[in-house]
Amino acid sequence: MKPINVGLIGIGTVGGGTWTVLNRNAEEITRRAGRPIRITAVADKNVELAKQVTGGMARVTDDAFSLVNDPEIDIIVELIGGYGVAKEVVMLSIANGKHVVTANKALLAVHGTEIFTAAQQKGVMVAFEAAVAGGIPIIKALREGLTANRIEWAAGIINGTTNFILSEMRDKGLSFDDVLKEAQRLGYAEADPTFDIEGVDAAHKATLIASIAYGIPVQFDKAYVEGITKLEASDIKYAEQLGYRIKLLGIAKRREKGIELRVHPTLIPAKRLIANVEGAMNAVVVKGDAVGATLYYGKGAGAEPTASAVIADLVDVTRLATADAEHRVPHLAFQPDAMSSLPV
Ligand code: HSE
Repeated sequence: MKPINVGLIGIGTVGGGTWTVLNRNAEEITRRAGRPIRITAVADKNVELAKQVTGGMARVTDDAFSLVNDPEIDIIVELIGGYGVAKEVVMLSIANGKHVVTANKALLAVHGTEIFTAAQQKGVMVAFEAAVAGGIPIIKALREGLTANRIEWAAGIINGTTNFILSEMRDKGLSFDDVLKEAQRLGYAEADPTFDIEGVDAAHKATLIASIAYGIPVQFDKAYVEGITKLEASDIKYAEQLGYRIKLLGIAKRREKGIELRVHPTLIPAKRLIANVEGAMNAVVVKGDAVGATLYYGKGAGAEPTASAVIADLVDVTRLATADAEHRVPHLAFQPDAMSSLPV
């Protein structure tokens, strides 16, 4: 089977995880995608790191645009982050007829309408499961599993850094600044941690959730955004005494006049499941008119959890991009001949 060729741009935490998981689980992933997914080239400012990770199994360069302009590459994985080079990479990849997989929530929340419109015109896909809640397949849940539903609301803990800070402040009585430093050390926080603590990162993700749930353009500028910087240890303590936990929630809700989009600290009764999501974990509750309330829980950041989402998109895009009948596979992740090897 002819492999689909991938250019990976950015081999930091998530890029490294993507390389590792794609190689480790190559057999299963190939079966599920219907053909091999091969990272043929890697671009990173740190060429030595890229060489070390790939061990000579892919072309390595510091020039991202050499991948974007390479006619042999079918899919670009953009893991640079930010709005600058990342936007150029994504827009040029689309213009060159390549599909794009990205974890860049900031880019999509702010420039998503322009990006998705360009992709639609060019007939390519821009997939972004990894942009929202890391390893939790919330975009696929909204797009596929809940597709029969009218979504009433979605609300979630979609920023691990702030949830970690709130949990540690409550459990250990630590100060905000000390816990933030720890979150940075553990690699949860954004390059600019004000995006985490001011609620901007959660709002980027909530914007994407709203866009998928309600089929509306990406409108980050319309979101109400309030972070956790005004909270004090005493707020958390008093909430606890009253039987509540404080969580930073991202909320998208259908109202009579339109869609409400907001991020702010919220008091949640302590016995609710979502009130007990601790540390850097993420959780999203989605209420559909047919299914009722559903809950998605897991790791919202980190190398392999986020790689899990990047690769899910690679498989999805590969299936959809594989037009010829020989390679076409059903959306379910098995082929008839694989059935015989299943345990009975
Ligand atoms: N800074 C983000 C968080 C990383 O803390 O959730 C994952 O998007």
